[in-house]
Amino acid sequence: MVDIAPSLLSADFADLKSELKSIEEAGCTVLHYDVMDGHFVPNISFGADILHDVHRITNMELDVHLMISDPMFYVDRFVKAGASYISFHIEAMESVEKTHELIKKIKEAGVKASIALNPGTSYEAVIPFLDEIDMILVMSVQPGFGGQKFNPVAIDKIAALSKYKKEKGFLIEVDGGINATTIQDVRKAGCDLFVAGSAVFNQNDRKKAVEALL
Ligand code: DX5
Ligand code: ZN
Repeated sequence: MVDIAPSLLSADFADLKSELKSIEEAGCTVLHYDVMDGHFVPNISFGADILHDVHRITNMELDVHLMISDPMFYVDRFVKAGASYISFHIEAMESVEKTHELIKKIKEAGVKASIALNPGTSYEAVIPFLDEIDMILVMSVQPGFGGQKFNPVAIDKIAALSKYKKEKGFLIEVDGGINATTIQDVRKAGCDLFVAGSAVFNQNDRKKAVEALL
């Protein structure tokens, strides 16, 4: 099984159709979709309308990563646009109650709910939600831009969370600076799904690029 989720952020937006086709042909079944609001992170990317169009032209599951300050307000739009997974940042949530509420909202819509953790956030922040969530997204760079250097702080965090995986049944995803070298230790630590932006889309041969990560 191909457990690489290419990040659309590094694709050629002028040629989206063939970019998507190239990774589908490489065997990828999950597309990582980075939403940035210019507030939670210092960059702006794309929103729900483009997700809707991407959904029309691909069979891949859409793994939406919300790097936005108000996920509660915007989440419905991404549900409607065809998200399969929605990750929101714990750092954007004002309380434990609101976090439970948002998870519930995502799951009741039939979408998999995931909590994302910045490199500076302890794994313990997600402990109260382990019974509810489908996935944890561990950031291995400060979110906002593709092509950054992998931060090994993610490895220990993934190893710590892996201990709960069997009992609780969630997946662990890693995001940022993943390449053929950095992926090795993350895999060993118990990660299930690997986001790769530049390592896939900056290579001409996408099949080769994906295979190099497996
Ligand atoms: C960073 C995004 C990542 C990014 C990864 O804020 O969340 O998904 O696209 O890109 P690479 O793999 O190039 O670090
Ligand atoms: Zn991402």
